[in-house]
Amino acid sequence: MKITFIGYGQVGGPLADHLQRLGHEVILAAAELNSSNLQKALGQNPGLLVAPPQEAVRRAEVVFLATPFQANEAALKSVSEELTGKILVDCTNPVGPNLTHGLNSSQSGSEMVQKLVPEARVVKAFTIYGFENFENSSYPGYNVKPVMMYCGADSGAKEIIARLIAQLGWQPLDVGGLEQALHLEHMTLLWVRMVRVNGHTPHVVWAMLTR
Ligand SMILES: NC(=O)c1ccc[n+]([C@@H]2O[C@H](COP(=O)([O-])OP(=O)(O)OC[C@H]3O[C@@H](n4cnc5c(N)ncnc54)[C@H](OP(=O)(O)O)[C@@H]3O)[C@@H](O)[C@H]2O)c1
Repeated sequence: MKITFIGYGQVGGPLADHLQRLGHEVILAAAELNSSNLQKALGQNPGLLVAPPQEAVRRAEVVFLATPFQANEAALKSVSEELTGKILVDCTNPVGPNLTHGLNSSQSGSEMVQKLVPEARVVKAFTIYGFENFENSSYPGYNVKPVMMYCGADSGAKEIIARLIAQLGWQPLDVGGLEQALHLEHMTLLWVRMVRVNGHTPHVVWAMLTR
């Protein structure tokens, strides 16, 4: 697939790298060529492509948004037209003071993203763990894979993202419509508080058992 990344820091960088190595055409949307994240990503993987944001989004079938939540509005503004009909994977989390929900749980960050780009097909994914697990998603020694939960209103878009999730080594788990994003964002806060405050290993992930 043709996949563009808006934001390629701790989260976007490793995901872009892995997806390119899986055979996808991955473009980094670059407004600022001096970005140290851009140089680091290209240093690790010269197969990544670079294009100005509007062109990068125009060329993509799927766009990953991996920017600080507060930057979302600015990051999306110049590419909102190009996002019409495209799948937008929202990797962002609204985090407030003292690791609280950044929108006071009044709405999810992903619903806010959808309002910013109403013509895009927003899927929330790759948010519930820290970046360490995007750098390496291998958990040898278990006969189940860790889950990657995702949600969104568009079932066709979700099917495509589920395939990417599986290729990246996770078990895709569709948790419902975009209104579920609020609950994923709280799961993220649970993980962040467990790991960044309470000292659990950053490699703690969730798995699904059913019968
Ligand atoms: N860190 C984690 O463990 C983790 C895990 C899951 C989800 N998340 C969420 O993922 C998102 C990204 O986190 P991160 O840790 O990857 O952040 P990061 O390392 O700071 O990277 C942020 C990226 O966004 C870019 N950016 C900033 N403002 C922008 C704008 N206005 N327009 C376009 N691009 C812009 C930066 O550009 P430059 O390269 O030019 O600086 C950089 O490439 C956040 O919303 C975070 O809550 C983080």
